[in-house]
Amino acid sequence: MLQLANKRILLGISGGIAAYKSAELVRILTKAGANVRVVMTQGAKEFITPLTLQALSGNPVHHTLLDEEAEAGMGHIELARWADLILIAPATADLIAKLAAGMGDELLTTLVLASKAPLFLAPAMNQQMWAAATTQQNLRTLADLKGDDFALFGPDSGVQACGDVGPGRMLEPTDIASLLAQRFQPGLLTGCKVVITAGPTREALDPVRYISNHSSGKMGYALAQAAVDAGAQVTLISGPVRIPAPDRVTLVNTISAQDMLEASLATMGNCDLFIASAAVADYRPANVAEQKIKKAGDEIQLTLTKNPDIVATIANHQQRPATVVGFAAETTDVDGYARGKLASKNLDMIVANDVSRSDIGFNSDDNAVTLYSREGHQDFERMSKTLLATKLIQTFAERLRNLREH
Ligand code: PMT
Repeated sequence: MLQLANKRILLGISGGIAAYKSAELVRILTKAGANVRVVMTQGAKEFITPLTLQALSGNPVHHTLLDEEAEAGMGHIELARWADLILIAPATADLIAKLAAGMGDELLTTLVLASKAPLFLAPAMNQQMWAAATTQQNLRTLADLKGDDFALFGPDSGVQACGDVGPGRMLEPTDIASLLAQRFQPGLLTGCKVVITAGPTREALDPVRYISNHSSGKMGYALAQAAVDAGAQVTLISGPVRIPAPDRVTLVNTISAQDMLEASLATMGNCDLFIASAAVADYRPANVAEQKIKKAGDEIQLTLTKNPDIVATIANHQQRPATVVGFAAETTDVDGYARGKLASKNLDMIVANDVSRSDIGFNSDDNAVTLYSREGHQDFERMSKTLLATKLIQTFAERLRNLREH
């Protein structure tokens, strides 16, 4: 069920006796790595408490359309946009009828109307209600309207809560979860743990000054987004930047190279892919003045001391990740220096960045790079950092797959 890793699932629960099984469904989906937000109809609350589902999903449960507090948190339109998919289990005959009619009489029906996400229903109702021509017509209407973005999971057949025998029982939660997983291709990095360093470091001179560089974090953050989209579990170790972290990554904020090294060592356990895109200061002030350094004389001498090399430390570690990728920001002899760093830092790949150009590299939205490995090199012409990140992540994922297969 790795396909469900990182998926944002909006689980709708309507008012039927099968609602008690939804608790188990939440547990299975969450265990598969999905982020589950539960939306209950008023009827559903008669069968199971929001508190149970909140505890199992780890997220607040939504059930009221006109709730000022909830709207101030994640409003209903935001929730509709948030969802990668909407799963309604159990879906009662009444709820299906409302969805087919395009009603928005309570939060769940409104969300379905307001969302473009695929809709999956696990019906649960009495066998006569299931067989009713109106129920079947309503399901055909939904299928016609949503096309490939609609599927029914079940129902199962057998003895029903009311004593009838026939189709209408909700599928077991494990079956619903595996049918849902089958709808999605596993991402290229599903099941992989990826650690990415990004942004600049700041090396303090005194309480108000520091040595740093122009890295904005855009390249590393784009890589984190692409890795999450590929299904990876991502830790982003970031220097001080002004951009928001992508959703679904674990963000570790750091300031100096020493902080970044400590965070890297603390998070590298079981890591498959380590990407060092951060612009780390090679040197730091040998002494950090306790008080602000006062102006005196025409010249001032600074003594700098070498910082630890983070990516080289990781690449030479006993628990070295299967693939370690560095970046090389160069202004001259890009090819020569990049190849040199590939070997001296014991890397598997290095992404060479010509930062003498003002249209790419530091702080720009675009980049153009050459990726070197021991086997050869590949050029990536100028493109957005978002697109470049996707292409680089595909290449790294391919290397990991080859390693696994050989
Ligand atoms: O953040 P952006 O504005 O989007 O810009 C992107 C970028 C230009 C910063 C990025 O594409 C890039 O090139 N990052 C590497 C910058 C750099 O520090 O390069 P370097 O050649 O000095 O270092 C080589 C490699 O060693 C890098 O992977 C670096 O993270 C790593 N390193 C360097 C020094 C050190 N003490 N520890 C390290 O881990």
